[in-house]
Order: sequence, then C-alpha cells, then structure tokens
Amino acid sequence: MPDDAGDDRGGPGPRRAEFGVDLLLDLRGAPGRKALGDALRAAARDGRLHAGAVLPSTRTLASELGLARNTVAAAYEQLVAEGWLISRQGSGTRVADHPALGAGLPARGRDPDGSARLRFDFTPGTPDLSRFPRERWQRAARRALARAPHGALSYPDPRGLPGLREALAEYLARARGVRADAEHIVICSGFTQALHLLAGVLRSRDATRIAVEDHGLPRHRRVIAAAGLDTTAVPVDREGARVDLLAGEDAVLLTPAHQFPLGVALSSRRRLGVLRWARRTGALLIEDDYDGEFRYDRQPVAALQADAPDLVAYAGTASKSLAPGLGLAWLVCPPGLLSDVVRAKEVSDGHTGVFEQLTLEEFLRCGDYDQHVRRARLAYRRRRNDLLAMLTDRSLPAVPRGIGAGLHVLIDLPARSAEAETTVVRAATRHDIALTGLSHYRTPPDPDASVAALVIGYTRPPGHGYRAALDALGGFLTTALAR
Ligand SMILES: Cc1ncc(COP(=O)(O)O)c(C=O)c1O
Repeated sequence: MPDDAGDDRGGPGPRRAEFGVDLLLDLRGAPGRKALGDALRAAARDGRLHAGAVLPSTRTLASELGLARNTVAAAYEQLVAEGWLISRQGSGTRVADHPALGAGLPARGRDPDGSARLRFDFTPGTPDLSRFPRERWQRAARRALARAPHGALSYPDPRGLPGLREALAEYLARARGVRADAEHIVICSGFTQALHLLAGVLRSRDATRIAVEDHGLPRHRRVIAAAGLDTTAVPVDREGARVDLLAGEDAVLLTPAHQFPLGVALSSRRRLGVLRWARRTGALLIEDDYDGEFRYDRQPVAALQADAPDLVAYAGTASKSLAPGLGLAWLVCPPGLLSDVVRAKEVSDGHTGVFEQLTLEEFLRCGDYDQHVRRARLAYRRRRNDLLAMLTDRSLPAVPRGIGAGLHVLIDLPARSAEAETTVVRAATRHDIALTGLSHYRTPPDPDASVAALVIGYTRPPGHGYRAALDALGGFLTTALAR
C-alpha cells in the first residue's frame, strides 16, 4: 500500500495535532504527503508556526493525523528541502527562519491605529504600569492557587467567587464607605462590562435614555448606545454635574468622587439633589468610582452609594489601582436589579476568570492591595507636584484644574477655542509629545466651543524619564503658548 494513501480516520476537514502547542492543520482534499506539506507551509506562512517551533516526531504526528509514518516523513523532507524546516539528528525537526514566515500577519511594533508611539506620553487613562507589583501579585497568585480547593476551578457563581466578594465588601466599606454585602457584588471584567450589563438590563425594562456628564469617556457613550439607549448630556460646572437639569431620563451615569476628566467632586448639595431625583422618579444612579483611591490633599470623598444603596449601582475597577490588563472590576447592585444583572452577566460571558479573582482576594486579604495603593498614591502625588511646579517655574499662562485627585490634571489654555486646542495637540506630536485635548471627551462634540484645555495624564512616562518628559512638555508649552 502506498504511504500516501493515508487513512482518513475522522473524515475530511481540519485536524488538530499536538505541537507542544495545538495546531489546527487543514488536510482537506486527499490527506497525504502533499496535503500535509501544504498545511504546514500555510501554518508557517500565516504565522501560526513560528521560527524555532519544534514539530512532533513523525510517529506522533502520523498517529494523531491518521496518516502513515512514511507520509509524514516524506512531507517533512520536502519542507526541509524547501527551507521551511530544519532537521537535525538528536534535536528533531524545527521550523526554519524562512523569509516568508509570518508573511500573512500585520506588521508588528505599531500602535493599533498604525501610529508610532511618541517619546513623551502624557495620554491620560492608565496608571504607571511599571509600578505594577509583579512580585507580590505573583506570590499572592501562588498562595491563592495552592490553597484553592479543586472546586474553585469549576464554573463559579456568575457573580464571582464568594471569598473575593466578601473581601471586597469589607474593603469597599472601609475605604470607600460603600454599604455592600457579598451577595450584592458582581465581579466584572471591567467597568465597561458593568456598564454594559446595567444598560442591557435597563433596556430590557423599557428604559430609553441615560443621562451622562457632558465630558466623559467616549467608550461609555458607545456602550450605552450599543445597548439601544439614547444619551442626554448634562453640563458639568464647579459643583460637578448639573443634576438639577435631569428630566425624564431612566438613569444617570456619574463620576461623583472625581469627575472625569474635569476633576471636580459632586457637591453635597448636588449629591442630595440627585438622590432626591432618583427617589422621586425611580431612576437609577450609576456611580463610576474609577479612581476613588487616589485623592491627595484631603480625605477621600465617600461613595454616593453610601447614602442610598437601594438607588445606586456602584462600580469600582482595578484598572487604575492595579492595571487595566487585569480586567477586574466590581459592581455593587441595588437589590431590585441584582437578579437581572446576574442573568445578564451569565449570558454575557458566564463569569470572570477565577485565577485573577483568587489572586485579588488574596491580595486584598494580606494587605498588599492597601499597601500598593498607598505607595502609588504617594508616587502619583509627587509626579503631580512636579508637574505643577514646572508650570509655576515657567510662569506659563496655563491654569491647572482638578489637581486634588486622580491620575491627570486639566490645564486651561489661554486661547479659548477648540481650534486652538487642536493646534497645540498637533504641534506637540512634532515635538514627540503625546497630549490629549479636552474636546476629545466632550459630548456632543462642539467645534465652536470657547474652551481650550489639555488633559494631562502624568503616570505614563517611566519614573527615570519623568523629569525629561516634564522638561520637554515645559519647553513645548513655553513656545506654543507664547504664540
Ligand atoms: C471615567 C472612567 N471610568 C472607568 C474607567 C475604567 O474602565 P475599565 O474598568 O473598563 O477599564 C476608566 C478608565 O479609563 C475611566 O476613565
């Protein structure tokens, strides 16, 4: 029987071979030497097999693919001859560094939008990722995994692991004044998901409109729109959102502790006002407590939820306190919303990954979370002070706002037009400086707005390069604002 005849166990279609990592090989057609050669070549060309990857022995692959061993050996030989594979006595067969390897992949080393990274990055939104407590997190992960019973790795309650929810209930009560029990907490993969779940539940209850602050994260408005809800924009002034203007909305999304990105806290008058409005109309308050841990000059502002747990859906996130890549957030649901939110979470993604949950629980319980936040707070306050000192030292006509908390400051520019703001942001890129204009966050967009401001995130430049980044920013603003 010719080797190539192969035996077509499992019928036509892709088959899976164990390569140390799994690789799906498409052996459709006549499975044999040629089909296997084509499939391996295609896997190398489109990047699924990388240079240096070790292929299984001819015996293993033959058995896994249901082919004769000689067929696999002949396919390997052919690819060695073509320069796709290297075969060495004693070290098996590997993928060679062929010039066409990975030719089907998009170019690497660029940002998703295709732009090259700028050297001095003052984009707001992420914490200082070099401060991520890798060692402690790793140790917590190891301890948590060693201690977790097998059952912890099964399908958890869609709300998340009870231990983490209990640890969070304690932490949130202590640090943010939140009134929560573990039963009402739902672990999410980010604030984004928490908002997505809430918006979906509201929509399913015939809600049509959510009020948002007229400056905020564009992604949040997209999440609300994706759920089929309209947004109305509420202006923000020195006392926070003008909640006195709310009328007829089914819910309002607020950042009461530290308005993003304008930086003000919701005044006590407005806090009372919005609670009264919600009680009167039955609307839901969605509290986005994204950076409540980072207040510098006075006591943190307690969560709004503390005053009315039945009216407020409170959400916090590890995206600022630890890292966005973790994908961990917590939603404290009012009782009337809980079962619908849990159902929505279940059909959305089943549950959030248990390894991160186990680790965060351990991280909270052993005190590492508090310690990390305290240290990060000190480091960010230092960075903020250095930034403010730079503005003062250079006597720049740029007035900082929202400096009391968070990971960014707002700098008002003297030329009061959106156009002037865009000009400054564009000019900065030519000096290798990434800046973000306030108009990026404004809703609805208003090209005729008579405001120009920069939202300066001060956590991205690496610690050793922060001084140089501030010098570059100061030098740039000195000339840009003198024009
Ligand atoms: C206003 C605001 N809320 C929430 C978040 C956090 O969202 P997530 O938890 O999905 O990362 C951010 C992050 O940039 C934010 O700026």
